[in-house]
Amino acid sequence: MPDPEKLSPQQFRRFSEFIYRQSGIRVDASKITLVSNRIRRRLRAGSFPDFDAYYAHLTAPGGSPELEQFLDAVTTNETHFFRTPAHFDWFKGDFLTETILDQRKTGRPQELRVWSAACSTGEEAYSLSICLAENSLRLKNWKVSVLGTDISEAVLKEARLGVYRDRALDAVNPLQLKRYFDVQPDGTTWKVKPSVREPVDFRRHNLMEPLRLPPFDCIFIRNVLIYFDRESKQVVIKHLMNSLARGGYLVVGPSEGIYDMLDPLVKRATYLYQKP
Ligand SMILES: C[S@@+](CC[C@H](N)C(=O)[O-])C[C@H]1O[C@@H](n2cnc3c(N)ncnc32)[C@H](O)[C@@H]1O
Repeated sequence: MPDPEKLSPQQFRRFSEFIYRQSGIRVDASKITLVSNRIRRRLRAGSFPDFDAYYAHLTAPGGSPELEQFLDAVTTNETHFFRTPAHFDWFKGDFLTETILDQRKTGRPQELRVWSAACSTGEEAYSLSICLAENSLRLKNWKVSVLGTDISEAVLKEARLGVYRDRALDAVNPLQLKRYFDVQPDGTTWKVKPSVREPVDFRRHNLMEPLRLPPFDCIFIRNVLIYFDRESKQVVIKHLMNSLARGGYLVVGPSEGIYDMLDPLVKRATYLYQKP
């Protein structure tokens, strides 16, 4: 007797192929229970009778607004402020110093563009914005901007709100908390101040597609490609390289599994690659 609570191997294959087509993420068969549990929550939320009805709804011609919720349920959005602090230390130290010196030498426009690719609920993008705010004296007269993108509208909605609980703020020091956040009336959440929010823009984007915007001086791509197969990683890397300015840097998360795929970028540190 099949278990109605769990995807059958055939149903799992159909869902995992759909996830792959939509996002580039390969869900391994060992995750069948996890994926069943997560999809079951969506069945209840939308009153769908069973997995097959849900699949038919998701894949109906013309698309479904449920797609966002589905991708949100089956992907991992876990993140926090200043995750892997060494990356932010480099950004506000060596990177800003080099960028400012380079501008003085070459006379390039005083503009700095940073991209948090797969930003989830916004903590990475706002951490970068705080780094820029902490260096506002050095960056006086500069036009600075941070773009945060993600495939999930649900996380982007939270990112735009910019309200966080203490768990996300563990690595924010007391001075930063005071300067860059407003405690909310409930006393348990903090909202990023307008000065941190202002340079940041959020938009939906699938990493499997090119981002048709002017190039970025620095791109953070962290804790997302771990779930992609090699072929999809290659597609994403090609798009990221095209979006990187000459001399720009790619900051790579510790578990992306792409270190051997970054040619012709030049390795500057384990996590850091520069476009020649
Ligand atoms: C664990 S979070 C990483 C957040 C942040 N970069 C960090 O390092 O903490 C992974 C995010 O990748 C997003 N994601 C997964 N597949 C994606 C795709 N194909 N295009 C864009 N974002 C994707 C998920 O929605 C999720 O919010």
